[in-house]
Amino acid sequence: MENWNFDEIIDRRGTYCEKYNFQDRPEDTLSLWVADMDFRVCPSVTKALCQRVEHGVYGYSSPGEEYYEALLGWFSSRFGWKAEKEWVVHTPGVVYALNTAVRSLTEPNDAVLILPPVYRPFFNVVQNNGRKLVESPLVEKEGVYQVNFEDFERKIVENSVKMFILCSPHNPVGRVWKRDELEQMAQICLRHNVLVISDEIHADFTYPGQQHIPFISISEQAAQHCIVCTAPSKTFNLAGLQCSNIFIPNPEIRAAFRGELSRQGFEFPNVMGILACQAAYTEGGPWLDDLLQYLEGNLEFVRSYLRENLPCVRLIEPQGTYLIWLDFHGLGLNAEQLEDLVSNKARLWLDDGLIFGKEGELFERVNIAAPRSILRQALDRLAEAVAHIPHRDS
Ligand SMILES: Cc1ncc(COP(=O)(O)O)c(C=O)c1O
Repeated sequence: MENWNFDEIIDRRGTYCEKYNFQDRPEDTLSLWVADMDFRVCPSVTKALCQRVEHGVYGYSSPGEEYYEALLGWFSSRFGWKAEKEWVVHTPGVVYALNTAVRSLTEPNDAVLILPPVYRPFFNVVQNNGRKLVESPLVEKEGVYQVNFEDFERKIVENSVKMFILCSPHNPVGRVWKRDELEQMAQICLRHNVLVISDEIHADFTYPGQQHIPFISISEQAAQHCIVCTAPSKTFNLAGLQCSNIFIPNPEIRAAFRGELSRQGFEFPNVMGILACQAAYTEGGPWLDDLLQYLEGNLEFVRSYLRENLPCVRLIEPQGTYLIWLDFHGLGLNAEQLEDLVSNKARLWLDDGLIFGKEGELFERVNIAAPRSILRQALDRLAEAVAHIPHRDS
C-alpha cells in the first residue's frame, strides 16, 4: 500500500467524534457502531484541506467546474453512469436530503414505504414529517435478504403510497440489488406513480463479484421518477464535512426539491466539504481500491473467526457496505440479555438490530471499517463473554 496504513490505530477520543463519545460506557469499550471508519482519509484530501486552511479566508463558497468534472467522472468511471451537471443539487447530508424530499414531494399524511430492517433515519424522516409509514419487510432466504414483491405492490396499492425510500446497497443487511430486482421495483413504482428516493451513499462498497447499479440508470422512465442521493462521506470518511450530491434528472422534481431547500435556508455548501469531495473524487481511486481490499480481508477474518470460535453467531454474508449483520438467535438469550452481553460483558458498542426495525431483534450491526487488530480484540471479548453464559451446552 502506498502512503496509507489501515492497520494503524488512531486514537479518536477527545476529537469530538460521536463514535467515541462514551458517556456512561466503560472507558475501554471497543466502538464498532456508527457508520464512519477508524482510518485516516486519503492524503490528497488532507493536502487540499491544508492548503485551504493556509489561505485563511473561508467565506461563502460554491463548487467550480473542476468539482463537477470530478463528481461526474467518478460515477462514469466507477459505475459507467453518465450523469449531467444540471441534475446535481447540494445538501449538507443525505439524511437532510431525505427530509427535504419527503417535505417537498409528498403531503402531510401521504404514505411512504420502506423495506425494514433498514437504516433508522428512514423511519424518522417519514414520521417526523407527519407522513404515514408503510413497511414491507425484507424476507431472508438462506442468508440472503430479498424484497417480497407481492407484499411490496399490495402495500403500495392498499395505502396509496406516494414515495418509496430505497437503500441501495442496503444498510444493515448488506444487499447489493441486482438489475432485475431494481427493474421490478421501478416497474411497480411507475405503475402506481410512486416516486423513488434511492439512497446510494454506500455505492462504492461492494465485495468482489458484486456490481452496484445506480437506480437512475435502470431506464429513462425510472430516471424521470427518482432522486438518487450520493455522498463521498462514507467512501472517503468525510461525514463531518457535510457534503452530499443529490441527482435529480426531472426538472419539475428538482425545482420542488430546490424550493424546499431554499425555505429551509440552505444555500451555500461548506467550503471544506466541497474541496474534500473534489480531491477525493479526483485522486482518491487508488486509496479506495486498497481500502476495499483491506475490508475484504476484515470480512474474511470475521467469517473465519466466527466459524472457528463462535459458530452459534451467524454472519449474514454482505454483498456490500462495511457494516455486517450478525444473527445471535443461536445463543438462546432474550433481547435484554443480549444487550447486557454485548455492552457490559464484552464491552463492545455495536448497533442493536432493533433500531433497524422489529425484524432486527437478536441481530447486531457491526462496523468492520477498523484496524484488524481491533476486530480481533472485539471478537475475543465476544467469545469470552459467550463462553461465560450460564447453562449453555454448546
Ligand atoms: C444508508 C445511509 N444513508 C445516509 C447516511 C448518513 O448520511 P449523512 O451523514 O450524509 O446524512 C448513512 C450513514 O450511516 C447511511 O447508512
